[in-house]
Amino acid sequence: MNNICVFGLGYIGLPTAAMFAHHGANVVGVDVNQHAVDTINQGKIHIVEPGLEAIVKQAVDNGRLKASLTPVHSDAYLIAVPTPFKGDDHTPDLSYIQAVSKALAPLLEKGDVVILESTSPVGATEQMVEWLAASRPDLTFPKYHEPDTEADIYMWLIVLSVCYQARWSKNSFLTTVSLVV
Ligand SMILES: NC(=O)c1ccc[n+]([C@@H]2O[C@H](COP(=O)([O-])OP(=O)(O)OC[C@H]3O[C@@H](n4cnc5c(N)ncnc54)[C@H](O)[C@@H]3O)[C@@H](O)[C@H]2O)c1
Repeated sequence: MNNICVFGLGYIGLPTAAMFAHHGANVVGVDVNQHAVDTINQGKIHIVEPGLEAIVKQAVDNGRLKASLTPVHSDAYLIAVPTPFKGDDHTPDLSYIQAVSKALAPLLEKGDVVILESTSPVGATEQMVEWLAASRPDLTFPKYHEPDTEADIYMWLIVLSVCYQARWSKNSFLTTVSLVV
């Protein structure tokens, strides 16, 4: 898996993108923030993260990491955009993930991997599958209720907490990975 596209170059996405590049992947980091894109492409960082700038600079200098406002086709897509609460009832705002789904859908090809790293409520991956599938009726996506059915696109949700129940399907088509930290 050599080509990776990371959506959201903030406190989660940028270190993740930089480490992928540091370990030899070709990474395009996508952000809607022009200042972030320009700063990263100069080998600098726009966030406070000790030690990160040197890794970003090296990755940009050797051509492994490039920031952009627009995504490119990749083998894997990692999504690290915000998921804030909205309103008084603390409903999670999935509009950032929806925007990424819209940008990502036209690029998908059979065998691609989509990883949702944004903190998400239960059901967010299935919601994302619905958004992607609506744009790409030519591809098949994992269905939670049919975990053993082969699909064109692999979907993962990464959760670095014990908040969500781990869900694992035999063929890893729709997977929640829970890591206790
Ligand atoms: N999975 C985990 O273990 C884990 C751990 C910590 C945080 N998170 C989650 O990761 C997500 C990102 O957190 P963060 O601290 O990096 O946020 P952040 O605000 O530092 O960065 C988010 C970035 O996404 C960009 N963005 C917004 N909309 C975009 C779009 N449509 N396309 C591309 N880029 C877009 C913003 O400009 C910003 O640079 C949040 O949901 C957070 O809760 C996950």
